[in-house]
Amino acid sequence: MNGTAAVHRVVHITRQWSHHAVGSRTVLCSDRPAAREVAPAGTGRGAAREETGMPKETAVYTHGHHESVLRSHTWRTAANSAAYLLDSLKPHMAVLDIGCGPGTITADLAALVPDGRVTAVDRAPDVLERARATVAERDLTNVDFAVADVHDLPYPDDSFCVVHAHQVLQHVSDPVQALREMRRVCRPGGFVAVRDGDYATMTWYPLTEGMDDWLDLYRRVARANGGEPDAGRRLKAWALQAGFTDVRATASTWCYTTDEERAWWSELWAERTQAPAYADRAVQGGHADAGRLERISAAWRRWGVEPDGWFAMLHGEVLCRA
Ligand SMILES: C[S@@+](CC[C@H](N)C(=O)[O-])C[C@H]1O[C@@H](n2cnc3c(N)ncnc32)[C@H](O)[C@@H]1O
Repeated sequence: MNGTAAVHRVVHITRQWSHHAVGSRTVLCSDRPAAREVAPAGTGRGAAREETGMPKETAVYTHGHHESVLRSHTWRTAANSAAYLLDSLKPHMAVLDIGCGPGTITADLAALVPDGRVTAVDRAPDVLERARATVAERDLTNVDFAVADVHDLPYPDDSFCVVHAHQVLQHVSDPVQALREMRRVCRPGGFVAVRDGDYATMTWYPLTEGMDDWLDLYRRVARANGGEPDAGRRLKAWALQAGFTDVRATASTWCYTTDEERAWWSELWAERTQAPAYADRAVQGGHADAGRLERISAAWRRWGVEPDGWFAMLHGEVLCRA
């Protein structure tokens, strides 16, 4: 709270369990008595919607949805990508999964809230079809889908018990605005849960020639596209700027080292480096030519067959009480 803005103190008296309707179902959200501070201009609940109006994403999604990208995303599970959230989930909860991509994490979340519901949104309509198929393959019937931009979510205030985004805020033009919007649609006492990679901390062995160039180029292209590739370290700061006062910030890693993991991880990066969404932006933006992209792909393939190979990826996480 700062002295320049008069801050209205709004006390939300909440019940231990509160009924809340989402879609066609009535669900329960775990709750606790809470006192909330709401700043009147720009930082308060609902302010983002009033100030921003229509969707305002200006960033370009760096990876695109090429098959080599989806091969990476479909490896993800709630256990390997959202462990920091799982203890807070209850079977009856209403969950919003933003930037759901092909939906493997979404499906796991849906299985964990069998008496509740998951609403899965993404800005890209095509990948939502893939997410629908993922959910259908698992015979889950408690998921619905919508095209939506995290900066301007098409839901009323206080709609969900949990609002989740995995590897999304690194790609958006205004992550603080995104978090304000996530907070707006999350009911008081619920959770906003975000996890993002932090590219500058990615590390590997052996130091195969060309791999440093991959990282340098990726970070340049991602920033030129309007994102922040080193998002993981910034999540706590962004959450505080968005008005959260109860933020649990943690970190966790992915590590690829077996023959199978190295083959999978190196080949998908070798391919996506030359796949249209990324390669076109790299070349058109003047960051690389085709030869450089080819050398980077070759570096990934050389690293992938190194028997000593090891690759680790740090993520930042925040679990914020709304
Ligand atoms: C790296 S993928 C993550 C997919 C999924 N959450 C996962 O971890 O497997 C990022 C996803 O966010 C989506 N996205 C990017 N900008 C977005 C925005 N402004 N609003 C909603 N979704 C967005 C992209 O289309 C993409 O599917």
